[in-house]
Amino acid sequence: MSTANSVARHYGSAGLAERVLAAFREANGVDAQPTPEALAPFDHFHGRGVLATQELAAQLALRPGERVLDIGSGIGGPARWIAAKFAVGVTGVDLTPEFCAAAEALNAATGLPNRVTVIPGSALALPVPDNTFDAAYSQNVIMNIADKQLFYREAFRALRPGGRLALSNLCAGPAGEPYFPVPWATTRDTSFLATPEAMRADLLAAGFEIADFRDITEATREAQRRTRERIDKGEVPKIAVDIIMGERAREMQWNSIRSVEEGRGIAIEALVRKPG
Ligand SMILES: C[S@@+](CC[C@H](N)C(=O)[O-])C[C@H]1O[C@@H](n2cnc3c(N)ncnc32)[C@H](O)[C@@H]1O
Repeated sequence: MSTANSVARHYGSAGLAERVLAAFREANGVDAQPTPEALAPFDHFHGRGVLATQELAAQLALRPGERVLDIGSGIGGPARWIAAKFAVGVTGVDLTPEFCAAAEALNAATGLPNRVTVIPGSALALPVPDNTFDAAYSQNVIMNIADKQLFYREAFRALRPGGRLALSNLCAGPAGEPYFPVPWATTRDTSFLATPEAMRADLLAAGFEIADFRDITEATREAQRRTRERIDKGEVPKIAVDIIMGERAREMQWNSIRSVEEGRGIAIEALVRKPG
């Protein structure tokens, strides 16, 4: 099986939009109207949820009307939240067919189908024209990418000259590989962590200028442990990872937390720019 098929198989399952809406209604009441803000605990599929999306969007300094690309857009939570908050148009590209279908259904449920477009496809052959987007972002996707230089070259191609790209990524730590399964991979076969130094070098090789590159491991580690402990005790509702990954989610998240705590992963946030 190809890496792309294995990745999609790791993530995909039936009935995702229905499960997200059910979790939202359980938390907010049966008559509650889903909005990008209110859905955020249930449809941002990455550590620290909407807070991380907010940080990434702030780095991009988005202006109303800009065209924005979300590479590996998942079930579309970040795309909807950013489109609504900053009055921009967002195009999401994702490999997992069930995620694209769920994103479409949730776009419709939140009244955003004209502002957010979802295209099934690969980050390694982005189904978008050259020099199109003012800004792009990718949250917790690069861990699934073996050919990282191709990933960065494709993002570079899609951006207009002067376009910005914000990234959140888990890099390889000094203490060895993560414990599996983790939320992004069932086994090491679809997990490709590069060191922060290699990430920088690959971005530069693709032609980007690096505006900001920071290690956010400490903040991520504390927040993830705290959130998971509260979910396990039943103090707060389950979040996106639980809804999407089902029964495997708890073990996956603890493996991820433990891996980061032991130096088996380094969380990086970066802002880079296409010259011009
Ligand atoms: C951990 S999820 C993050 C989803 C989304 N960015 C979010 O933060 O809510 C990783 C996503 O990357 C997508 N992905 C992995 N490899 C990809 C590739 N080569 N091309 C496009 N999407 C990919 C997966 O399908 C999945 O939706």
